[in-house]
Amino acid sequence: MNASKPSSDLNAEILALKKERDAVILAHNYQLPEIQDVADYVGDSLGLSYRAQETGAKTILFCGVHFMAETAKIINPAKTVLLPDLDAGCSLSDSCPADMLRAFLESNRDKDYYVVAYINCSAAVKALSDVICTSGNAARIVSRVPQDRRILFVPDQNLGAWVTEQTGRPMDLWQGNCHVHVEFTRESIEKARAQYPEAKVVAHPECPYAVRLLADEVCSTEKMVAYCRESNAKTFVVVTESGMLHRLRKEVPGKVFIPGPTDNCACSDCRFMKMNTPDKVVAALRHGRPEITLTENVRRAAEAPLLRMLEWSR
Ligand code: 13P
Ligand code: SF4
Repeated sequence: MNASKPSSDLNAEILALKKERDAVILAHNYQLPEIQDVADYVGDSLGLSYRAQETGAKTILFCGVHFMAETAKIINPAKTVLLPDLDAGCSLSDSCPADMLRAFLESNRDKDYYVVAYINCSAAVKALSDVICTSGNAARIVSRVPQDRRILFVPDQNLGAWVTEQTGRPMDLWQGNCHVHVEFTRESIEKARAQYPEAKVVAHPECPYAVRLLADEVCSTEKMVAYCRESNAKTFVVVTESGMLHRLRKEVPGKVFIPGPTDNCACSDCRFMKMNTPDKVVAALRHGRPEITLTENVRRAAEAPLLRMLEWSR
């Protein structure tokens, strides 16, 4: 596929290939605008998990990062799950390797941890967990954990701290974080506030404490759409990955969305999310690869905490 093809040609090609392969395209809110525009569904990790569970299509082309496509495969072992670029990983997921978590749990057996894993982790880490959560349901999930159990929350220390602020439930936090969200600082957001005094600041819970404190709203990417639509404000500083701006501008017309700045940069890209391109989307549909594969042992062990999450958050 030629990158310079007009978008109508691209759309027609993708539509034809989708039919041929009986495929559905699921895309995360951080994907490139051209990819969001050809997807059947665009959303956050929670919405995407439900769509992956519900789809009747034989093939899921997952435009997001590796752990998201893996999640779709965990709950759909009989389907073909494609990811446009297999190297589209996640720095947060990488900050909690399964062997480190296993060793930690073994050396802390006496604590009998109930492991709550944020969905941004590998299938092998999910397999070691009791329940999964996303930024959209984390407080609800944590509040359902039996009161007599001590919680280990992996891998995001910022999201974990935010959940404790919301629920009052103390948790031991794995010290992982996301390379995009830790770049936002108190100084960078204070500057944006001074520049746009009329704006509401909306931030993702993966941001550090000082940034969350400065925000008018802290929520998942999906809830950002609802918040901005329902708010009386006309201008918003959006403190998360840049892909979010496309969805907001499209679905909340007539309002102004400013990318949250960091100390070095006016807008933030996740280098993994941006590895997927329209060319790679077409190639994946045409050739039926790269495909996500999992050993049945890991898949089965990862499925239980994931299904528990889907049930608890309904
Ligand atoms: P959401 O589930 O809020 O979309 O977040 C996913 C993510 O990777 C944030 O960095
Ligand atoms: Fe992972 Fe951060 Fe990219 Fe989200 S934005 S996929 S947490 S590296």
